[in-house]
Amino acid sequence: MAKILDGKATAKHVRIRLKREIKDLILLAEHPPQLVFIQVGENPASTTYVNLKHKMAERIGCISTVNRLPATIPQDELLEAIERYNRDRHVHGMLVQLPLPDHIDEHVIAQAIAPAKDVDCFHPVNVGRMMLGLPGPKPATPLGIITLLEEHGIEIKGLSVTVLGRSNLVGKPLGLMLLKRHGTVTYCHTRTRDLASECRRADLLVAAAGKAGIVTGEMVKPGAVVVDVGTNFIPALDEQGQPLLDEDGQPKFRQVGDVVFDEVEPLAGWISPVPGGVGPMTIASVLANTVTLYKAIEGLD
Ligand code: GUN
Repeated sequence: MAKILDGKATAKHVRIRLKREIKDLILLAEHPPQLVFIQVGENPASTTYVNLKHKMAERIGCISTVNRLPATIPQDELLEAIERYNRDRHVHGMLVQLPLPDHIDEHVIAQAIAPAKDVDCFHPVNVGRMMLGLPGPKPATPLGIITLLEEHGIEIKGLSVTVLGRSNLVGKPLGLMLLKRHGTVTYCHTRTRDLASECRRADLLVAAAGKAGIVTGEMVKPGAVVVDVGTNFIPALDEQGQPLLDEDGQPKFRQVGDVVFDEVEPLAGWISPVPGGVGPMTIASVLANTVTLYKAIEGLD
Protein backbone atom coordinates (compact mmCIF):
# COMPACT_ATOMS: atom_id res chain seq x y z
CA MET A 1 0.00 0.00 0.00
CA ALA A 2 1.45 3.35 -1.03
CA LYS A 3 2.13 6.25 1.30
CA ILE A 4 0.24 9.39 0.35
CA LEU A 5 1.96 12.52 -0.97
CA ASP A 6 -0.36 14.87 0.86
CA GLY A 7 -0.48 18.09 -1.14
CA LYS A 8 -3.15 19.70 0.98
CA ALA A 9 -1.14 19.41 4.20
CA THR A 10 2.17 20.28 2.51
CA ALA A 11 0.70 23.36 0.84
CA LYS A 12 -0.53 24.49 4.23
CA HIS A 13 3.01 24.13 5.68
CA VAL A 14 4.38 26.15 2.75
CA ARG A 15 1.79 28.90 3.32
CA ILE A 16 2.59 29.04 7.04
CA ARG A 17 6.30 29.45 6.21
CA LEU A 18 5.55 32.16 3.62
CA LYS A 19 3.26 34.01 6.03
CA ARG A 20 6.05 34.12 8.64
CA GLU A 21 8.55 35.25 6.02
CA ILE A 22 6.25 38.03 4.78
CA LYS A 23 5.67 39.23 8.34
CA ASP A 24 9.44 39.68 8.76
CA LEU A 25 9.97 41.19 5.31
CA ILE A 26 7.25 43.81 5.78
CA LEU A 27 9.28 45.30 8.63
CA LEU A 28 12.09 45.96 6.16
CA ALA A 29 10.11 46.84 3.03
CA GLU A 30 7.53 48.90 4.95
CA HIS A 31 4.75 47.65 2.70
CA PRO A 32 3.31 44.19 1.99
CA PRO A 33 3.68 42.24 -1.25
CA GLN A 34 0.94 43.08 -3.72
CA LEU A 35 -0.37 40.55 -6.21
CA VAL A 36 -2.78 41.24 -9.10
CA PHE A 37 -4.91 38.60 -10.81
CA ILE A 38 -6.37 39.45 -14.21
CA GLN A 39 -9.27 37.35 -15.45
CA VAL A 40 -10.67 37.92 -18.92
CA GLY A 41 -14.22 36.61 -19.37
CA GLU A 42 -16.21 34.42 -17.06
CA ASN A 43 -14.92 30.87 -17.48
CA PRO A 44 -16.28 29.22 -14.29
CA ALA A 45 -13.13 27.11 -13.70
CA SER A 46 -10.96 30.25 -14.04
CA THR A 47 -13.20 32.08 -11.56
CA THR A 48 -12.79 29.23 -9.06
CA TYR A 49 -8.99 29.16 -9.44
CA VAL A 50 -8.60 32.92 -9.29
CA ASN A 51 -10.83 33.19 -6.20
CA LEU A 52 -8.83 30.46 -4.48
CA LYS A 53 -5.46 32.05 -5.28
CA HIS A 54 -6.76 35.46 -4.22
CA LYS A 55 -7.99 34.07 -0.88
CA MET A 56 -4.71 32.26 -0.18
CA ALA A 57 -2.67 35.35 -1.09
CA GLU A 58 -4.62 37.46 1.39
CA ARG A 59 -4.35 34.77 4.02
CA ILE A 60 -0.53 34.84 3.96
CA GLY A 61 -0.40 38.63 4.19
CA CYS A 62 -0.35 39.87 0.60
CA ILE A 63 -2.51 42.66 -0.75
CA SER A 64 -4.39 40.88 -3.50
CA THR A 65 -6.46 42.46 -6.27
CA VAL A 66 -8.65 40.69 -8.80
CA ASN A 67 -9.23 42.63 -12.01
CA ARG A 68 -12.05 41.01 -13.98
CA LEU A 69 -12.25 42.24 -17.57
CA PRO A 70 -14.94 41.51 -20.19
CA ALA A 71 -14.35 38.64 -22.65
CA THR A 72 -14.70 41.18 -25.48
CA ILE A 73 -11.81 43.39 -24.34
CA PRO A 74 -9.48 44.15 -27.26
CA GLN A 75 -5.95 42.80 -26.85
CA ASP A 76 -4.54 46.35 -26.84
CA GLU A 77 -6.64 47.28 -23.83
CA LEU A 78 -5.52 44.18 -21.95
CA LEU A 79 -1.92 45.11 -22.77
CA GLU A 80 -2.54 48.63 -21.42
CA ALA A 81 -3.87 47.19 -18.14
CA ILE A 82 -0.79 44.96 -17.84
CA GLU A 83 1.47 47.92 -18.57
CA ARG A 84 -0.17 49.94 -15.79
CA TYR A 85 0.65 47.17 -13.30
CA ASN A 86 4.17 46.84 -14.72
CA ARG A 87 4.72 50.53 -13.91
CA ASP A 88 3.05 50.45 -10.47
CA ARG A 89 5.94 50.07 -8.05
CA HIS A 90 3.64 48.77 -5.32
CA VAL A 91 2.67 45.76 -7.45
CA HIS A 92 5.16 42.90 -7.07
CA GLY A 93 3.41 40.11 -8.92
CA MET A 94 0.77 39.66 -11.58
CA LEU A 95 -0.84 36.85 -13.50
CA VAL A 96 -3.32 36.66 -16.34
CA GLN A 97 -5.46 33.57 -15.89
CA LEU A 98 -5.60 31.20 -18.88
CA PRO A 99 -7.41 30.29 -21.06
CA LEU A 100 -7.90 33.61 -22.85
CA PRO A 101 -10.54 34.34 -25.54
CA ASP A 102 -9.49 33.35 -29.06
CA HIS A 103 -8.83 36.94 -30.21
CA ILE A 104 -6.08 37.33 -27.60
CA ASP A 105 -2.64 35.82 -28.18
CA GLU A 106 -1.37 34.13 -25.01
CA HIS A 107 2.26 34.48 -26.11
CA VAL A 108 1.91 38.24 -26.59
CA ILE A 109 0.37 38.51 -23.12
CA ALA A 110 3.06 36.33 -21.50
CA GLN A 111 5.72 38.58 -22.97
CA ALA A 112 3.97 41.79 -21.90
CA ILE A 113 4.18 41.01 -18.20
CA ALA A 114 7.45 42.37 -16.79
CA PRO A 115 9.71 39.39 -15.98
CA ALA A 116 10.25 40.93 -12.53
CA LYS A 117 6.49 40.55 -11.80
CA ASP A 118 5.81 37.25 -13.57
CA VAL A 119 4.51 34.94 -10.80
CA ASP A 120 3.51 32.23 -13.34
CA CYS A 121 7.02 32.11 -14.85
CA PHE A 122 5.51 32.28 -18.35
CA HIS A 123 7.84 35.01 -19.70
CA PRO A 124 10.58 33.64 -22.00
CA VAL A 125 13.22 35.45 -19.91
CA ASN A 126 12.12 33.58 -16.79
CA VAL A 127 11.80 30.28 -18.67
CA GLY A 128 15.39 30.83 -19.86
CA ARG A 129 16.58 31.71 -16.36
CA MET A 130 14.97 28.54 -15.02
CA MET A 131 16.69 26.53 -17.74
CA LEU A 132 20.06 28.00 -16.86
CA GLY A 133 19.52 27.44 -13.13
CA LEU A 134 19.50 31.19 -12.36
CA PRO A 135 17.44 32.72 -9.53
CA GLY A 136 13.89 33.82 -10.26
CA PRO A 137 10.32 32.51 -10.30
CA LYS A 138 9.76 28.90 -11.28
CA PRO A 139 6.86 27.29 -13.19
CA ALA A 140 4.26 26.79 -10.48
CA THR A 141 3.15 23.19 -10.99
CA PRO A 142 6.70 21.80 -11.41
CA LEU A 143 7.88 23.78 -8.37
CA GLY A 144 4.91 22.42 -6.43
CA ILE A 145 5.76 18.83 -7.41
CA ILE A 146 9.40 19.21 -6.40
CA THR A 147 8.43 20.80 -3.08
CA LEU A 148 5.92 17.97 -2.49
CA LEU A 149 8.65 15.35 -3.05
CA GLU A 150 11.23 17.18 -0.94
CA GLU A 151 8.84 17.76 1.95
CA HIS A 152 8.17 14.00 2.05
CA GLY A 153 11.91 13.26 2.17
CA ILE A 154 12.13 11.83 -1.36
CA GLU A 155 15.54 12.40 -2.92
CA ILE A 156 15.47 12.91 -6.69
CA LYS A 157 19.23 12.41 -7.24
CA GLY A 158 19.92 9.25 -9.23
CA LEU A 159 16.28 8.29 -9.79
CA SER A 160 15.02 7.08 -13.14
CA VAL A 161 12.29 9.58 -13.88
CA THR A 162 9.59 9.30 -16.53
CA VAL A 163 7.58 12.43 -17.26
CA LEU A 164 4.43 11.64 -19.17
CA GLY A 165 3.48 14.84 -21.04
CA ARG A 166 5.54 17.62 -22.62
CA SER A 167 3.42 20.74 -22.15
CA ASN A 168 5.13 24.11 -21.74
CA LEU A 169 3.40 24.59 -18.39
CA VAL A 170 4.19 21.27 -16.75
CA GLY A 171 5.99 18.40 -18.49
CA LYS A 172 8.76 20.28 -20.29
CA PRO A 173 9.91 22.53 -17.40
CA LEU A 174 9.42 19.77 -14.82
CA GLY A 175 11.81 17.48 -16.73
CA LEU A 176 14.48 20.22 -16.70
CA MET A 177 13.99 20.94 -13.01
CA LEU A 178 14.29 17.22 -12.17
CA LEU A 179 17.41 17.00 -14.36
CA LYS A 180 18.94 19.87 -12.40
CA ARG A 181 18.35 17.77 -9.27
CA HIS A 182 20.22 14.86 -10.91
CA GLY A 183 17.28 12.72 -11.99
CA THR A 184 17.72 10.65 -15.19
CA VAL A 185 14.80 11.98 -17.15
CA THR A 186 12.77 10.40 -19.96
CA TYR A 187 9.94 12.35 -21.60
CA CYS A 188 6.96 10.42 -22.96
CA HIS A 189 4.22 11.83 -25.16
CA THR A 190 1.53 10.91 -27.67
CA ARG A 191 4.08 9.53 -30.17
CA THR A 192 6.02 7.40 -27.65
CA ARG A 193 6.13 3.83 -29.02
CA ASP A 194 6.00 1.71 -25.87
CA LEU A 195 4.55 3.90 -23.17
CA ALA A 196 3.99 1.05 -20.70
CA SER A 197 7.62 -0.08 -20.67
CA GLU A 198 8.95 3.52 -20.47
CA CYS A 199 6.71 4.10 -17.45
CA ARG A 200 7.57 0.75 -15.85
CA ARG A 201 11.30 1.65 -15.79
CA ALA A 202 10.63 4.70 -13.64
CA ASP A 203 11.50 5.07 -9.97
CA LEU A 204 9.58 8.33 -10.20
CA LEU A 205 6.65 8.52 -12.61
CA VAL A 206 4.94 11.85 -13.21
CA ALA A 207 1.65 11.64 -15.08
CA ALA A 208 0.91 14.98 -16.74
CA ALA A 209 -0.83 13.83 -19.91
CA GLY A 210 -4.25 15.35 -19.16
CA LYS A 211 -5.95 12.03 -19.94
CA ALA A 212 -8.08 10.35 -17.29
CA GLY A 213 -6.81 6.91 -16.32
CA ILE A 214 -3.93 6.70 -18.81
CA VAL A 215 -1.59 5.21 -16.16
CA THR A 216 -2.73 1.73 -15.12
CA GLY A 217 -1.30 -0.73 -12.61
CA GLU A 218 0.73 -2.66 -15.19
CA MET A 219 2.65 0.53 -16.09
CA VAL A 220 4.07 1.07 -12.62
CA LYS A 221 7.19 -0.45 -11.08
CA PRO A 222 6.43 -1.81 -7.60
CA GLY A 223 7.60 0.70 -4.98
CA ALA A 224 7.77 3.62 -7.46
CA VAL A 225 6.86 7.18 -6.57
CA VAL A 226 3.83 8.20 -8.64
CA VAL A 227 2.84 11.85 -9.01
CA ASP A 228 -0.52 12.50 -10.65
CA VAL A 229 -0.86 15.95 -12.23
CA GLY A 230 -4.14 15.18 -14.02
CA THR A 231 -7.20 17.32 -13.36
CA ASN A 232 -9.83 15.67 -15.49
CA PHE A 233 -13.56 15.97 -14.95
CA ILE A 234 -15.64 12.90 -15.78
CA PRO A 235 -19.39 12.27 -15.27
CA ALA A 236 -20.21 11.12 -11.73
CA LEU A 237 -22.13 7.81 -11.60
CA ASP A 238 -24.25 6.21 -8.89
CA GLU A 239 -23.81 2.59 -7.68
CA GLN A 240 -25.90 1.30 -10.61
CA GLY A 241 -23.68 3.13 -13.09
CA GLN A 242 -26.31 5.78 -13.85
CA PRO A 243 -25.28 9.47 -14.22
CA LEU A 244 -25.74 11.52 -11.05
CA LEU A 245 -27.67 14.76 -11.58
CA ASP A 246 -27.65 18.02 -9.63
CA GLU A 247 -30.79 19.83 -8.44
CA ASP A 248 -31.21 21.44 -11.90
CA GLY A 249 -31.10 18.04 -13.60
CA GLN A 250 -27.61 18.68 -14.99
CA PRO A 251 -25.02 15.88 -14.91
CA LYS A 252 -22.59 16.00 -12.00
CA PHE A 253 -18.86 15.67 -12.59
CA ARG A 254 -16.05 14.37 -10.44
CA GLN A 255 -12.36 15.19 -10.58
CA VAL A 256 -9.98 12.35 -11.41
CA GLY A 257 -6.29 12.20 -12.24
CA ASP A 258 -4.33 10.58 -15.05
CA VAL A 259 -3.62 7.58 -12.82
CA VAL A 260 -6.05 4.73 -12.09
CA PHE A 261 -5.62 5.25 -8.35
CA ASP A 262 -7.23 1.98 -7.20
CA GLU A 263 -4.89 -0.09 -9.40
CA VAL A 264 -1.69 1.84 -8.75
CA GLU A 265 -2.00 2.61 -5.05
CA PRO A 266 -1.50 -1.01 -3.88
CA LEU A 267 1.76 -1.25 -5.91
CA ALA A 268 3.39 2.15 -5.56
CA GLY A 269 5.69 3.28 -2.76
CA TRP A 270 4.21 6.78 -2.81
CA ILE A 271 1.28 8.29 -4.68
CA SER A 272 -0.27 11.75 -4.89
CA PRO A 273 -4.08 11.78 -4.82
CA VAL A 274 -6.43 13.80 -7.03
CA PRO A 275 -7.77 16.03 -5.63
CA GLY A 276 -5.48 16.98 -2.74
CA GLY A 277 -2.10 16.27 -4.33
CA VAL A 278 -0.47 18.54 -6.91
CA GLY A 279 -3.35 21.07 -7.16
CA PRO A 280 -2.87 22.76 -3.77
CA MET A 281 0.91 22.74 -4.32
CA THR A 282 0.55 24.71 -7.57
CA ILE A 283 -1.26 27.51 -5.73
CA ALA A 284 1.32 27.48 -2.93
CA SER A 285 4.05 27.84 -5.57
CA VAL A 286 2.43 30.95 -7.08
CA LEU A 287 2.59 32.43 -3.58
CA ALA A 288 6.22 31.32 -3.17
CA ASN A 289 7.05 33.00 -6.51
CA THR A 290 5.33 36.16 -5.27
CA VAL A 291 7.61 36.26 -2.22
CA THR A 292 10.67 35.59 -4.42
CA LEU A 293 9.77 38.54 -6.68
CA TYR A 294 8.83 40.80 -3.75
CA LYS A 295 12.25 40.21 -2.19
CA ALA A 296 14.01 40.91 -5.49
CA ILE A 297 12.04 44.11 -6.20
CA GLU A 298 12.54 45.39 -2.65
CA GLY A 299 16.23 44.44 -2.62
CA LEU A 300 15.74 42.02 0.28
CA ASP A 301 17.13 38.83 -1.26
N1 GUN B 1 -4.86 28.33 -16.13
C1 GUN B 1 -4.66 27.05 -15.73
N2 GUN B 1 -3.52 26.97 -15.01
C2 GUN B 1 -3.00 28.21 -14.97
C3 GUN B 1 -1.84 28.76 -14.37
O1 GUN B 1 -1.03 28.08 -13.73
N3 GUN B 1 -1.65 30.10 -14.56
C4 GUN B 1 -2.50 30.85 -15.28
N4 GUN B 1 -2.20 32.14 -15.42
N5 GUN B 1 -3.58 30.38 -15.85
C5 GUN B 1 -3.83 29.05 -15.69
